[in-house]
Amino acid sequence: MEIRVAPLPAEQKKQKATDETALGFGRLFTDRMLVAEWKVGQGWVDARIEPYAPFSLDPACAVFHYAQEIFEGLKAYKWSDGSIALFRPEMNARRFNHSAERLCMPEVPEDLFVGGIEQLVALERDWIPASEGTSLYIRPTMIAVEPVLGVKPSDHYYFYVILSPVGAYYAAGFNPVKIMVEDTYVRAVPGGTGEAKTGGNYASSLKAGLEAKKKGFDQVLWLDGVHRRYIEEVGAMNMLFAYGKTIVTSPLTGTILNGITRDSVLKLAASRGYTIEERLIDVNDLMADIRAGKVTEAFGSGTAAVVSPVGILAYKDESVTVGDGGVGPITRELYDALTGIQTGRIPDTF
Ligand code: COI
Repeated sequence: MEIRVAPLPAEQKKQKATDETALGFGRLFTDRMLVAEWKVGQGWVDARIEPYAPFSLDPACAVFHYAQEIFEGLKAYKWSDGSIALFRPEMNARRFNHSAERLCMPEVPEDLFVGGIEQLVALERDWIPASEGTSLYIRPTMIAVEPVLGVKPSDHYYFYVILSPVGAYYAAGFNPVKIMVEDTYVRAVPGGTGEAKTGGNYASSLKAGLEAKKKGFDQVLWLDGVHRRYIEEVGAMNMLFAYGKTIVTSPLTGTILNGITRDSVLKLAASRGYTIEERLIDVNDLMADIRAGKVTEAFGSGTAAVVSPVGILAYKDESVTVGDGGVGPITRELYDALTGIQTGRIPDTF
C-alpha cells in the first residue's frame, strides 16, 4: 500500500534527549507518526506519514465510550554497522490482527503494518537511542472513530503508529522487582478478552496495581479468574520460573497474552539446553516450591520489560524471596542472549 510522506517543517522538529540513560519509558515521542484510515465500503485509505500531532476527534467517537481499541508493542534497534533491526514485527502484525478480530475491528494488511513501521522507523532513525538498555519503542494502535453512541462496531477506524525512545520499563532497570499475587481482582476469564491486546484490559488492572504499589510492590501477578488458583501473567509481562534447569511457564489458555518475548525466551532457552514445561501452575504449589528452594529463579518476559528478574513474590500476606533475591544466572543468561540478538551482538540462530 502506497504511503504518502508529508513534509516535516523545521519548526515541528523536537528536541532529542540529551541524556539517554534518563529516558524512562514512553514519555518522549518522535517527530513523525504513521496514520491510515479504514472506512466501511472503502477499506484502508489515505495512509500517510505526517508530523506527530494531536488528533482532532469528535467527543462521540466510539473509542471514548466503549473502548474499541487495540495496540501492540515492539522495538527497533540501531546496530553497530548502522543498520536498523526490528525484532519479529510479523509476529506483532499477526497478534494485532488476532486482537482486531476479537474487538470486531478490520484487519490491517501485513504490508501496511510491517512496511509502514519500516518506512516510519527509517525516516525517524536518528531517534533510535544507542546506549546500553535503550531502544526505540514502537506503538501501533487502532481506534474506533465513528461518532455514534449506539453500541456496535464502528464504521471508521484510525490505525496509527507512534515511536518513543525508551530505556528500562521498570525504574529499577535490570534489577529484581517485587510482585504481589492478586487475590481480590481478576484480569480475565475464559471467553473474555484476556488474549487480546486491548486497552480495557489495562484500564481494569489499574486498581489492583495501585493497591499493590501502596503495599510496596511493583506489579500484580494475576490468577485465573475461575479457580483463583493458577498463575496467569503480570500485565506487562508473562511469568517464568526456573526449577534448576527446567523452565516452567503457564500455557496459553486463551486468558493470557501470547507474548512474543515469551515465545522467544522459550525457544532461546530450549536451544541452550533448558527443559521447557508449559503447564498450569498452582499458586500454593509455587509458594511452597519457592519456600523449599526448588524454584531457583523467577522472571518476567515482555517487549517493554524484556527479561525482568523477580526477587520477591507475595501471596495472602506471605512474602517469599526467590533464590537469594538477586539476579539469577539463568535470568542473566537469557537477558544477555536476547538483548544480544536484538542489538546484533549475537547472531539470531533460534
Ligand atoms: C509491552 O509492549 O511490553 C506491553 O506489554 C505494553 C506494556 C507497556 C503494558
